[in-house]
Amino acid sequence: MDIHIRSFVPDDHAAALALWQRTEGMGLNESDEASAVSMFLARNPGCSAVAVTNDGRLVGAMLCGHDGRRGSLHHLAVEPGFRQHGVGRRLVEHGLARLAAAGIVKCNIFVVPDNAEGTEFWLRRGWYRTPWLNLQTRLGT
Ligand SMILES: CC(C)(COP(=O)(O)OP(=O)(O)OC[C@H]1O[C@@H](n2cnc3c(N)ncnc32)[C@H](O)[C@@H]1OP(=O)(O)O)[C@@H](O)C(=O)NCCC(=O)NCCS
Repeated sequence: MDIHIRSFVPDDHAAALALWQRTEGMGLNESDEASAVSMFLARNPGCSAVAVTNDGRLVGAMLCGHDGRRGSLHHLAVEPGFRQHGVGRRLVEHGLARLAAAGIVKCNIFVVPDNAEGTEFWLRRGWYRTPWLNLQTRLGT
């Protein structure tokens, strides 16, 4: 079956969230709600991507954006029955091409520490571990 890669639009949110929720290794939180994802998409036009079948079923998704300095990828997921056919690679290529076109030269991804398979996916593609410790704060209440 042909799989089409296209930009992620707000109407894809429900199907993408459902995919993320049934995918191992996703760390989901309030930033994945429809309003937050719509804001992310609006700030990063065309960067995020979905994979859809001929009949319109969403079988892959990835969020991608940048802050003007560094790119970031989030929640790369492919439906199990559609893995090992280059869909993940094509989703990543879509995002990285948009980042490169915007002049971004580095991109980060956070991977859940016990996601060995997901980590391998990135390491085999030349992504490397950084020495940085990731710290975070919460704003508001
Ligand atoms: C990680 C993940 C997104 C990869 O998706 P995918 O569509 O299977 O990725 P690809 O098909 O592009 O690449 C996977 C393997 O299939 C191979 N492959 C690609 N096209 C192929 C083809 N036509 N025939 C056979 N194998 C192929 C690739 O070489 C790759 O193997 P390698 O990693 O040994 O190099 C998917 O396994 C997934 O959703 N995992 C759960 C969520 C996750 O861990 N996400 C990443 C962390 S954020």
